Amino acid sequence: MDFSLSTGALNTLTDHTLIVAVPSEGDLPSATQQINQDFGGIIDTLLQQKDFSGKAGSTLLLPSVNGTRMILMGIGKDAIKGKDWIKSVKAAATCLKNSASDKGAITLHGLSFDDVDEAWAHQQLAQCFEDALYEFKECKSKPKEGEEDESKTIETLTVIADPAMETALQQGKAIAVGMALCKTLGNLPGNIATPSFLAETAVSLAEQYDKLAVDVLEEDRMEELGMGSFLSVSAGSIEPGKLICLNYTGGKKGDAPHVLVGKGITFDTGGISLKPGAGMDEMKYDMCGAASVLGTLKTLCALNLPINVVGVIAAAENMPAGHATKPGDIVTAMNGTTIEILNTDAEGRLVLCDALTYAIDTFKPASIVDIATLTGACMMALGGVNSGLMTQDEALAEEIQSAAELSRDAVWRLPLQEEYQELLDSNFADIANIGGRLAGATTAACFLSRFTEGQKWAHLDIAGTAWFSGGKNKGSSGRPVPLLVTYLMGKE
Ligand code: BES
Ligand code: MN
Ligand code: ZN
Repeated sequence: MDFSLSTGALNTLTDHTLIVAVPSEGDLPSATQQINQDFGGIIDTLLQQKDFSGKAGSTLLLPSVNGTRMILMGIGKDAIKGKDWIKSVKAAATCLKNSASDKGAITLHGLSFDDVDEAWAHQQLAQCFEDALYEFKECKSKPKEGEEDESKTIETLTVIADPAMETALQQGKAIAVGMALCKTLGNLPGNIATPSFLAETAVSLAEQYDKLAVDVLEEDRMEELGMGSFLSVSAGSIEPGKLICLNYTGGKKGDAPHVLVGKGITFDTGGISLKPGAGMDEMKYDMCGAASVLGTLKTLCALNLPINVVGVIAAAENMPAGHATKPGDIVTAMNGTTIEILNTDAEGRLVLCDALTYAIDTFKPASIVDIATLTGACMMALGGVNSGLMTQDEALAEEIQSAAELSRDAVWRLPLQEEYQELLDSNFADIANIGGRLAGATTAACFLSRFTEGQKWAHLDIAGTAWFSGGKNKGSSGRPVPLLVTYLMGKE
């Protein structure tokens, strides 16, 4: 969908579906007032008759009057809170999508916001509108000849606003585009989205943008580099593992890059420590960290952000097989650490540790953040609301936390203290790959911390937030692309 910014008045765009903001109490905003008058006080009447409440997230599609269609968009109480605005915009987008119309028009003129500013509201308008229209159709058969194509797209949303809001709209749109890539990669099944497919996706992204270059390390190269930990995970699969490095050079030559490292387990069966069958299909989402890195880089390219960023993706499939790694096996990671693999289902950390070592050695990062669907424990602790944030770097924690607040892509900090490290002690190797029943999200982070010493490093566990489980809403969420983009925009 396109966003076109326009000056003028909402009530003149009568060939568009007019999205009209209606509060739950108090005076109508100026633009709404105008339309109310043009249409014989219809909004006042609907409010008086309680046919419409104006609650945030409520909408009402009015049948076209003299050819003009209208959507009443409830915005709740004046002044509008950021979280209510997001709800309102998403509801309006869905309502427009379900209508017969393919173009909408909206304005924020006369609206007042509580905890956010006008630019933020415009950015979220573009981001949430576009995101609400996302559909995953890749794996449905195409309508046959003669059959009606039931899919419906929105062509444009005309936003009547000050031209100064253009940047905010473009930022929102670019984030939604990155989220869409992240979602589609996540939603694709494990037999399509293999490590090779992720590598091809990275290659084609790099072909699209001048400032993006890609380097894919194959298993023989990883062998040479001594990545015994990574290779112990891909060992059981016929799909070769790939270490995908994307280098975005938007900043000054020689400036140390900010590095994102994504877990890209394209399917996690658990390996020989096989997972139970129920719901195992959702382990196709175990590459959502990788997907968020690709999505974020796409957004950076679209925005032409003036910084250097490297994305490293550890892509492998975790399968049981005669040649799979067994519980008790001991492997040596690229940095020389020996690891006793007590549970082959704790595979994310095994691919990430070598990816982290490689990223640190190769790119000398200014900062390094890994993103991973790492532990069921994190999901149990934080549910679908917050991603888990673990770091020993207070300044980095603060940066990520404020980016989370601004982008409404929430994180909650979990502990990462020295005292937890001993849970990883092994009788036979330098460390074990699991820490027992307690503090699972933290022991996973402790494991990674052994490979990031002296670095400005943070770990994001997105096990609960990367996708919606089960039911009708099942699907990738696109998180934490908004968080990562907002965090990196702070590095400008
Ligand atoms: N990919 C899973 C974590 C996961 C599970 C994310 C369910 C979202 C939903 C990860 O590889 C895993 O299996 N972790 C184990 C670690 C354990 C063996 C220490 C877990 O959390 O059970
Ligand atoms: Mn696992
Ligand atoms: Zn996993």
